[in-house]
Amino acid sequence: QIFETPFQGSAFAAVQIANLIRARQMEGKKCVLGLATGSTPISLYKELVRLHKEEGLSFANVITFNLDEYYPLEREAVQSYWSFMHRNLFDHVDINPANIHIPNGEWKQDEIKKYCLDYEARIDAVGGIDLQILGIGNNGHIGFNEPGSSIYSKTRLVNLENSTRIANSKDFQNISKVPRLAITMGISTILKARRILLMAWGFKAGIVARSVEGDVTEQVPASLLQQHNDCVFIVDQQAASEL
Ligand code: GLP
Repeated sequence: QIFETPFQGSAFAAVQIANLIRARQMEGKKCVLGLATGSTPISLYKELVRLHKEEGLSFANVITFNLDEYYPLEREAVQSYWSFMHRNLFDHVDINPANIHIPNGEWKQDEIKKYCLDYEARIDAVGGIDLQILGIGNNGHIGFNEPGSSIYSKTRLVNLENSTRIANSKDFQNISKVPRLAITMGISTILKARRILLMAWGFKAGIVARSVEGDVTEQVPASLLQQHNDCVFIVDQQAASEL
Protein backbone atom coordinates (compact mmCIF):
# COMPACT_ATOMS: atom_id res chain seq x y z
CA GLN A 1 0.00 0.00 0.00
CA ILE A 2 1.42 3.31 -1.09
CA PHE A 3 0.97 6.47 1.00
CA GLU A 4 1.91 10.04 0.21
CA THR A 5 3.98 10.45 3.37
CA PRO A 6 5.58 8.26 6.06
CA PHE A 7 3.21 9.87 8.55
CA GLN A 8 0.16 8.60 6.63
CA GLY A 9 1.67 5.12 6.31
CA SER A 10 2.44 5.06 10.03
CA ALA A 11 -1.09 6.18 10.90
CA PHE A 12 -2.45 3.33 8.76
CA ALA A 13 -0.20 0.79 10.54
CA ALA A 14 -1.21 2.21 13.94
CA VAL A 15 -4.91 1.75 13.09
CA GLN A 16 -4.27 -1.89 12.11
CA ILE A 17 -2.60 -2.48 15.47
CA ALA A 18 -5.20 -0.57 17.47
CA ASN A 19 -8.07 -2.46 15.80
CA LEU A 20 -6.41 -5.78 16.57
CA ILE A 21 -5.73 -4.86 20.21
CA ARG A 22 -9.34 -3.74 20.67
CA ALA A 23 -10.78 -6.81 18.92
CA ARG A 24 -8.76 -9.06 21.22
CA GLN A 25 -9.85 -7.04 24.26
CA MET A 26 -13.50 -7.57 23.34
CA GLU A 27 -12.86 -11.32 23.22
CA GLY A 28 -11.02 -11.14 26.56
CA LYS A 29 -7.84 -12.33 24.85
CA LYS A 30 -4.20 -11.25 24.71
CA CYS A 31 -2.83 -9.58 21.58
CA VAL A 32 0.69 -10.68 20.60
CA LEU A 33 2.74 -8.12 18.67
CA GLY A 34 6.16 -8.57 17.06
CA LEU A 35 7.97 -5.23 17.14
CA ALA A 36 10.85 -3.66 15.22
CA THR A 37 13.37 -0.91 15.85
CA GLY A 38 15.27 1.49 13.59
CA SER A 39 14.21 4.94 12.41
CA THR A 40 11.31 3.60 10.31
CA PRO A 41 8.81 2.63 13.06
CA ILE A 42 9.42 5.71 15.27
CA SER A 43 6.42 7.54 13.80
CA LEU A 44 4.27 4.41 14.26
CA TYR A 45 5.16 4.27 17.97
CA LYS A 46 4.46 8.01 18.30
CA GLU A 47 1.00 7.46 16.84
CA LEU A 48 0.34 4.49 19.16
CA VAL A 49 1.32 6.63 22.17
CA ARG A 50 -1.08 9.31 20.92
CA LEU A 51 -3.89 6.76 20.56
CA HIS A 52 -3.17 5.63 24.13
CA LYS A 53 -3.17 9.15 25.57
CA GLU A 54 -5.95 10.72 23.52
CA GLU A 55 -8.20 7.84 22.54
CA GLY A 56 -7.84 5.49 25.48
CA LEU A 57 -6.12 2.65 23.61
CA SER A 58 -4.97 0.28 26.35
CA PHE A 59 -1.96 -2.03 26.09
CA ALA A 60 -2.98 -4.00 29.19
CA ASN A 61 -3.70 -7.11 27.12
CA VAL A 62 -0.67 -6.73 24.82
CA ILE A 63 2.32 -9.08 24.78
CA THR A 64 5.33 -8.02 22.72
CA PHE A 65 8.35 -9.78 21.23
CA ASN A 66 11.08 -7.66 19.69
CA LEU A 67 12.93 -8.85 16.63
CA ASP A 68 16.50 -8.28 17.64
CA GLU A 69 19.24 -6.78 19.81
CA TYR A 70 22.93 -6.03 19.38
CA TYR A 71 25.35 -8.43 21.05
CA PRO A 72 27.08 -7.89 23.32
CA LEU A 73 25.53 -4.69 24.66
CA GLU A 74 24.34 -3.64 28.11
CA ARG A 75 20.57 -3.52 28.29
CA GLU A 76 20.61 0.07 29.57
CA ALA A 77 23.00 1.41 26.89
CA VAL A 78 21.38 4.26 24.90
CA GLN A 79 21.96 2.31 21.69
CA SER A 80 20.28 -0.89 22.90
CA TYR A 81 16.96 -1.83 21.37
CA TRP A 82 15.72 -2.32 24.94
CA SER A 83 16.35 1.41 25.54
CA PHE A 84 14.89 2.32 22.14
CA MET A 85 11.63 0.49 22.82
CA HIS A 86 11.22 1.98 26.28
CA ARG A 87 12.04 5.49 25.08
CA ASN A 88 9.72 5.35 22.07
CA LEU A 89 6.82 3.23 23.30
CA PHE A 90 6.83 1.19 26.52
CA ASP A 91 7.51 4.10 28.93
CA HIS A 92 4.44 5.92 27.60
CA VAL A 93 1.75 3.23 27.57
CA ASP A 94 0.13 0.90 30.12
CA ILE A 95 1.87 -2.31 29.04
CA ASN A 96 2.73 -4.79 31.81
CA PRO A 97 6.57 -5.02 31.91
CA ALA A 98 6.22 -8.79 32.35
CA ASN A 99 4.66 -8.92 28.86
CA ILE A 100 7.68 -7.31 27.16
CA HIS A 101 10.22 -9.65 25.53
CA ILE A 102 13.43 -8.40 23.91
CA PRO A 103 16.52 -10.51 23.17
CA ASN A 104 19.13 -9.52 25.74
CA GLY A 105 22.58 -8.28 24.74
CA GLU A 106 23.80 -9.38 28.19
CA TRP A 107 23.01 -13.08 27.76
CA LYS A 108 26.08 -15.19 28.58
CA GLN A 109 27.76 -16.31 25.37
CA ASP A 110 27.83 -20.00 26.35
CA GLU A 111 24.11 -19.92 27.18
CA ILE A 112 22.83 -18.03 24.14
CA LYS A 113 21.54 -21.15 22.39
CA LYS A 114 19.44 -21.99 25.43
CA TYR A 115 18.07 -18.43 25.66
CA CYS A 116 17.25 -18.39 21.94
CA LEU A 117 15.35 -21.68 22.21
CA ASP A 118 13.54 -20.24 25.21
CA TYR A 119 12.61 -17.09 23.21
CA GLU A 120 11.00 -19.27 20.52
CA ALA A 121 9.23 -21.33 23.20
CA ARG A 122 7.82 -18.19 24.82
CA ILE A 123 6.37 -17.05 21.48
CA ASP A 124 4.78 -20.48 20.99
CA ALA A 125 3.51 -20.57 24.58
CA VAL A 126 1.32 -17.49 24.01
CA GLY A 127 -0.04 -18.87 20.75
CA GLY A 128 2.33 -17.20 18.27
CA ILE A 129 2.59 -13.65 16.97
CA ASP A 130 -0.65 -12.09 15.72
CA LEU A 131 0.96 -9.17 13.93
CA GLN A 132 4.63 -8.59 13.14
CA ILE A 133 6.01 -5.12 12.33
CA LEU A 134 9.14 -5.03 10.14
CA GLY A 135 11.51 -2.46 8.72
CA ILE A 136 13.98 -3.32 5.97
CA GLY A 137 17.73 -2.88 5.71
CA ASN A 138 19.39 -1.53 2.56
CA ASN A 139 20.56 -5.06 1.77
CA GLY A 140 17.09 -6.52 2.29
CA HIS A 141 17.65 -7.70 5.85
CA ILE A 142 14.64 -8.15 8.13
CA GLY A 143 15.37 -8.10 11.83
CA PHE A 144 19.09 -8.79 11.65
CA ASN A 145 18.69 -11.65 9.16
CA GLU A 146 21.37 -10.69 6.68
CA PRO A 147 21.48 -11.97 3.06
CA GLY A 148 22.08 -15.72 3.07
CA SER A 149 19.95 -16.34 6.17
CA SER A 150 18.04 -19.59 5.78
CA ILE A 151 14.28 -19.60 5.38
CA TYR A 152 14.34 -22.18 8.20
CA SER A 153 16.37 -19.98 10.57
CA LYS A 154 15.17 -19.37 14.12
CA THR A 155 16.21 -16.99 16.89
CA ARG A 156 20.02 -17.07 17.01
CA LEU A 157 23.29 -15.18 17.27
CA VAL A 158 24.38 -13.73 13.89
CA ASN A 159 27.22 -11.73 12.37
CA LEU A 160 26.36 -8.27 11.07
CA GLU A 161 27.41 -7.24 7.58
CA ASN A 162 29.79 -4.35 7.41
CA SER A 163 27.24 -2.32 5.41
CA THR A 164 24.72 -2.81 8.26
CA ARG A 165 27.28 -1.71 10.84
CA ILE A 166 28.05 1.40 8.77
CA ALA A 167 24.33 2.20 8.30
CA ASN A 168 23.77 1.87 12.07
CA SER A 169 26.98 3.64 13.14
CA LYS A 170 25.10 6.96 13.46
CA ASP A 171 23.84 5.71 16.82
CA PHE A 172 27.35 4.96 18.11
CA GLN A 173 30.45 7.07 18.72
CA ASN A 174 32.15 5.54 15.70
CA ILE A 175 32.04 2.39 13.57
CA SER A 176 34.44 0.48 15.83
CA LYS A 177 31.88 0.77 18.65
CA VAL A 178 29.09 -0.91 16.63
CA PRO A 179 28.78 -4.53 17.82
CA ARG A 180 29.76 -7.15 15.25
CA LEU A 181 27.08 -9.57 16.42
CA ALA A 182 23.38 -9.51 17.15
CA ILE A 183 20.63 -11.80 18.34
CA THR A 184 17.70 -11.93 15.94
CA MET A 185 14.48 -13.83 15.45
CA GLY A 186 14.93 -16.07 12.42
CA ILE A 187 13.21 -15.92 9.05
CA SER A 188 11.02 -18.89 10.01
CA THR A 189 10.12 -17.17 13.30
CA ILE A 190 9.00 -14.10 11.34
CA LEU A 191 7.11 -16.11 8.70
CA LYS A 192 5.09 -17.86 11.44
CA ALA A 193 3.44 -14.54 12.40
CA ARG A 194 -0.19 -14.54 11.26
CA ARG A 195 0.05 -11.07 9.72
CA ILE A 196 3.10 -9.03 8.71
CA LEU A 197 3.38 -5.28 8.04
CA LEU A 198 6.71 -4.17 6.56
CA MET A 199 7.26 -0.42 6.51
CA ALA A 200 9.74 1.46 4.30
CA TRP A 201 10.22 5.15 3.60
CA GLY A 202 12.37 7.32 1.39
CA PHE A 203 15.52 6.03 -0.24
CA LYS A 204 14.62 2.31 0.06
CA ALA A 205 12.97 2.12 -3.41
CA GLY A 206 15.56 -0.24 -4.92
CA ILE A 207 15.44 -2.85 -2.19
CA VAL A 208 11.62 -2.55 -1.91
CA ALA A 209 11.29 -3.34 -5.62
CA ARG A 210 13.68 -6.32 -5.40
CA SER A 211 11.80 -7.65 -2.38
CA VAL A 212 8.33 -7.30 -3.87
CA GLU A 213 8.94 -8.01 -7.56
CA GLY A 214 12.26 -9.84 -7.66
CA ASP A 215 13.03 -13.54 -7.28
CA VAL A 216 12.30 -15.18 -3.95
CA THR A 217 15.82 -15.71 -2.68
CA GLU A 218 17.68 -16.01 0.60
CA GLN A 219 20.08 -13.42 -0.88
CA VAL A 220 17.29 -10.84 -0.38
CA PRO A 221 15.76 -11.85 2.97
CA ALA A 222 12.69 -9.60 2.56
CA SER A 223 11.83 -11.36 -0.73
CA LEU A 224 11.04 -14.47 1.34
CA LEU A 225 7.98 -12.57 2.59
CA GLN A 226 6.41 -13.23 -0.85
CA GLN A 227 5.73 -16.71 0.51
CA HIS A 228 3.61 -15.37 3.38
CA ASN A 229 -0.14 -15.21 2.79
CA ASP A 230 -0.88 -12.03 4.75
CA CYS A 231 2.01 -9.62 4.35
CA VAL A 232 1.58 -5.95 3.42
CA PHE A 233 4.36 -3.54 2.48
CA ILE A 234 3.48 -0.03 3.69
CA VAL A 235 5.56 2.43 1.70
CA ASP A 236 5.66 6.12 0.91
CA GLN A 237 5.79 7.44 -2.65
CA GLN A 238 9.56 7.65 -2.76
CA ALA A 239 10.03 4.07 -1.53
CA ALA A 240 7.48 2.93 -4.12
CA SER A 241 9.15 4.76 -7.00
CA GLU A 242 10.84 1.68 -8.52
CA LEU A 243 7.80 -0.61 -8.38
C1 GLP B 1 18.30 -2.33 11.72
C2 GLP B 1 17.25 -3.22 12.38
C3 GLP B 1 16.16 -3.61 11.43
C4 GLP B 1 15.69 -2.39 10.68
C5 GLP B 1 16.80 -1.84 9.81
C6 GLP B 1 16.42 -0.59 9.05
O1 GLP B 1 19.43 -2.99 11.28
N1 GLP B 1 17.79 -4.39 13.00
O2 GLP B 1 15.09 -4.23 12.15
O3 GLP B 1 14.58 -2.69 9.88
O4 GLP B 1 17.91 -1.56 10.62
O5 GLP B 1 16.62 0.55 9.83
P1 GLP B 1 15.98 1.97 9.55
O6 GLP B 1 14.53 1.83 9.85
O7 GLP B 1 16.66 2.90 10.52
O8 GLP B 1 16.25 2.29 8.13
